[in-house]
Amino acid sequence: MSAGNPRGAGTAGDAQVPAQAGAPAAGALLTARDLAVFFPVGTQLMARMRHTERLLRAVDGVDLEVRRGEALALVGESGSGKSTLALALAGLRPPDRGEIRYDGRVLPGRRSRDDRRRIQMVFQDPYSSLNPRLTVGGMLGELLRVHHVVPRDEVRSFSAELLRLVGLDEGALSAYPRQFSGGQRQRVAIARALALRPEVLVADEPVSALDVSVQATILNLLRDLRGELGLTLLLISHNLAVVRHLCDRVAVMYLGRIVEVAPTEQLFRDPRHPYTRGLLAAIPRLTEQAGETGPPAMAGDPPSPLAIPAGCRFRTRCPMAQPRCEQEDPALTARPADPGHLAACHFAFTPASASASAAPEQA
Ligand SMILES: Nc1ncnc2c1ncn2[C@@H]1O[C@H](COP(=O)(O)OP(=O)(O)O)[C@@H](O)[C@H]1O
Ligand code: SF4
Ligand SMILES: [Mg+2]
Repeated sequence: MSAGNPRGAGTAGDAQVPAQAGAPAAGALLTARDLAVFFPVGTQLMARMRHTERLLRAVDGVDLEVRRGEALALVGESGSGKSTLALALAGLRPPDRGEIRYDGRVLPGRRSRDDRRRIQMVFQDPYSSLNPRLTVGGMLGELLRVHHVVPRDEVRSFSAELLRLVGLDEGALSAYPRQFSGGQRQRVAIARALALRPEVLVADEPVSALDVSVQATILNLLRDLRGELGLTLLLISHNLAVVRHLCDRVAVMYLGRIVEVAPTEQLFRDPRHPYTRGLLAAIPRLTEQAGETGPPAMAGDPPSPLAIPAGCRFRTRCPMAQPRCEQEDPALTARPADPGHLAACHFAFTPASASASAAPEQA
């Protein structure tokens, strides 16, 4: 692999990525088991007076497998823990419980530089995620030098190649973030993420802060880069139409847990968890307003992560709840004879549930 070629991330010489661009997913690359991230909030006394816990359980027992070379979507209402999970997977927030494996190897709480390099993030707001005092060339150069990505005399040409990869010309190297439009800034942020030649890109609502007119161009760029570089993509998005267009599989998150995972078309055609059905039923509203301020996906607000219901955490909003749901916390379980479709509902794969799962029309 040529050290000076950003495209080298997807070449056959690197055992960590598929030999061919866009090669079919094969096996788990990044795995979370019983992953939990808690935030301490307020004092013990305040928690007692409010009858809540002191630890906010943002991520609370996540089981998830990201397969090599795939585009996996992570969806769920605002506050369900998607961003916190993304930060934990990327090594930017140490988990309080559970395990993260990369290519079968358990990642320690404090990751090595090489392990941090492998998983890079693109954030929602490209302006606040870029240092306003550095030119694009300065920012990329610093990163490339600190991480010894290329020899010093190749830093400039490598930076220019990175910009070309994201659709910007070399002249952008001498510009500051404020001189770019929102869409261009997100391109710079993507170039920065790619600078370390990651194998996994975690994109957290990468277009939610952008004008509708440029959202598609950035999403298409991510799709093309994935194909060209053989990247594995974890895409967090409110917009289920986008997810359907770009992703191979979808994981649905509710109140700190993954409650359903399935291949994209299967999830849209035959959702098995009542929460997923509610999300899909709200597609027209979600696609019109894809931002954090959009209307709720279904009736009622989710409970606070400071007071997660016992038993099934969705039971307070579930139209199918039974007495058993108050007592037993349903595990994420595979559909009989179909290990690729999982749901965390006692009745997800029972005949009674089948009749309730008339899939809504797509947006
Ligand atoms: N740094 C933090 N301190 C305290 N609470 C947090 C922090 N970050 C996130 N949370 C809380 O954790 C929960 C999940 O948040 P987040 O991961 O941002 O969800 P999402 O990305 O799905 O909107 C929310 O209740 C949020 O308020
Ligand atoms: S376990 Fe019960 S409350 Fe939970 S989603 Fe299934 S039916 Fe609804
Ligand atoms: Mg978020």
